[in-house]
Order: sequence, then C-alpha cells, then structure tokens
Amino acid sequence: MSDKKPVLLSGIQPSGHLCIGNYLGALKNWEALQESYDSIFLVVDMHALTIKQNPAELRQRCLSYVAQYIACGLDPEKSHIFVQSHVIGHAELAWVLSCLTPLGELQRMTQFKDKVAKLGFKVNEREDGQEGDEVKFTHSGARAQASVNSGLLSYPVLMAADILLYNADLVPVGEDQRQHLELCRDLAQRFNQVYSETFKIPSAFVSKTGARVMSLAEPTRKMSKSDKNQNATIFIHDEPDRIRKKIASAVTDSGNEIKANPDKPGVTNLLSILAALTGTEIPEIEEKFSDRGYGEFKEVVTEATIEALRPVREKYLSLTEDKSYLLSALKDGTSVAQKRAYRILSKVYRKIGFVERPR
Ligand code: TYM
Repeated sequence: MSDKKPVLLSGIQPSGHLCIGNYLGALKNWEALQESYDSIFLVVDMHALTIKQNPAELRQRCLSYVAQYIACGLDPEKSHIFVQSHVIGHAELAWVLSCLTPLGELQRMTQFKDKVAKLGFKVNEREDGQEGDEVKFTHSGARAQASVNSGLLSYPVLMAADILLYNADLVPVGEDQRQHLELCRDLAQRFNQVYSETFKIPSAFVSKTGARVMSLAEPTRKMSKSDKNQNATIFIHDEPDRIRKKIASAVTDSGNEIKANPDKPGVTNLLSILAALTGTEIPEIEEKFSDRGYGEFKEVVTEATIEALRPVREKYLSLTEDKSYLLSALKDGTSVAQKRAYRILSKVYRKIGFVERPR
C-alpha cells in the first residue's frame, strides 16, 4: 500500500445486518476500487449511537461488521479497516467543524427530516402547508424535542470529520449520502478559507446502478438494513431459500411488462438489482425479457442474487469462527489510522490557535 495513491474512504453504521442495498450501493464499489487507492474503511459505531442501542448487541455487531466487510471482498492486506471509536480524533474534529456549521444547514438535511418524521413527528410544515427549510416540530412539540437527540442533527458533521481526518479524495457511497458529502465539501472549503489551505475537497463516487436499492415490500422507499419488515430487505447472509421467498413475494406492478418506469417502482427496482449484480445495462435486460412474464424475470433475479451472495455468505460464516483474525486485521488498521488522524488533528489544532501540548 503506497501513501502516494489517492485516499479512498467510506463507512457503514453497524445497525442491523448488511443488506443488498449496502452491498450494491457501497461495498461492491469499495472492493473494486480498493487496490487503486489508499483505502480506509470504517465501522462507524459512534454514528450508530444516534439510535438507541443494546450495548451487548452493538459490541457484538461491530466485530460482525468487520467479518461482513471482509466477506464482501475487502482485503485487510490492501485496505485499512477499523472501528471509528478506536481512533481518537473523530469526535474532536467533529466539534471543530460543528463550530463552522450553521444550524440551518443541518436542519435542511433530507435524512434528518426523514428520521425525525419516522419517529412520528411532523416537520418542516410552514403556515401555508408547504415544506420549509426549518424543522419546526409541529404538533406534540415537547415530545418531539425530547425524542429527537441532537446527535441525529449533528451526525453529518461527524461524517465530515470521518472523511476530512484522513484527507480523503474519494468517498464511495449510495445516493442517500450525496447530500452529506456536499456538506462535507462545504465544511472543508469553509475551514480552508478561514484558516488557510488544510483539507482536500473530497468527491463522492456514486455508481450508475445499485446506488438506490428500494424496499421489496414498498418499492417507493429505500431498502434499509434496519427495516422491521424482514421481507422488505435481502441481507447478505440470507440463505438461498430465504432469498427465493423474499423475491417471490416482492411487490410488482400492474401489467406484465418488464420495463423500468416511474409508474412501475417494483419492476424498476428488480431491474436495477439485476443490472447492478450482473454489470448489464437495464435496456439490455428489458430487451431480453420483452416477451417474457414476471414469473420468469423474478426467477432470473433470484438466481443472480443467490449466486452473487453465495460466496459472501460462506466467507462470512467461516470468518465469524475466526475472531483472532478479525482482531488482528483491526489492530493493523487502527494503528495506521490513529497515526494519520493525529497528524491531521494536530495540524487543525495548530491552525485554529490551540496551544501546543507540552511534551
Ligand atoms: P449507512 O450505514 O446508512 O449506509 C452505508 C452505505 O450503504 C449505502 N446504502 C445504500 N445504497 C443503495 N441502496 C440502498 N438502499 C442503500 N442503503 C444504504 C449508503 O449510501 C452508504 O454508502 N452516514 C453513513 C455512514 C458514514 C460514512 C462516513 C460514509 C459515516 N461516516 C464517512 C462515508 C464516509 C451512513 O449512515 O450510511
């Protein structure tokens, strides 16, 4: 691994189990890019705290995520893999950046608004009933403010810190993270303007297919690893039979044409999954199925999914037996990351005027 390569960085929250959305939107690209970059992959446990966690489960899940990363093709010999909370500097840099972040910018984040809405609160309603920029917690305001922790709001600043702490050039993510990446770029530019050139301005890498895999049960919603409806999500460790059942029960649309179209979110979703799994263009698949029905199409999607996930599942199961290998991979990743994080954090502290630590 050469330090001269451009830096690639990404991470996933250890909530639930990795799903095919994470695989196609993120991990598949990480694997493909890891060799050409100086690659850094985090299990972002500090982000997971924005949702209530069971401590024993969170601890167990973090190591399981390392196994899942490696099972999806990340190679600890080629990439640095570590757990975010093991490296000191993420929260510290986030604090510095948060002092450069106007509250309004955070309140405008789509994910924040979605998460608050999921907690059952109406947000952003202006008097004229249109969406506004500010989160106003209309109705049950007191209860809303008590349930929405401030981490949920400041979370994108922590994500910016994760990226800038290693001066990443490229951040491969799914479509839903694009807005957070924009904020990160703005914060890097703002810091550079105020305190002189310090951070590189990172670019997002969002793949053409697979960047927004939708729920199998409600294809107008994003597939999520923490969906309560287990049939809505294909997990990377799902057994072939489960995958068969989930795709068989996936919502399709009226009519029987296999065509990507905004009126046909179910079929469009299955088409994009198949395209991303096989590296085929959607029009080519549409052409192939022009005289065939949903049944046959679903069978092909099912087989492609099973075959793509089979090696991932097998590797994951064998890695969970090898805790010492996982820990040694983490140890290497953490020690490299900590040195680099200290280097950037010290530079930041110097620039903002903090006194040098006595040696
Ligand atoms: P998270 O944990 O929600 O998702 C991890 C990655 O998976 C992608 N993804 C999807 N892609 C396609 N279809 C879907 N249905 C789908 N669901 C999720 C996400 O876009 C993401 O790339 N804030 C981040 C984690 C993070 C991070 C970072 C990422 C923290 N620090 C620094 C990059 C760099 C998040 O919550 O991702």
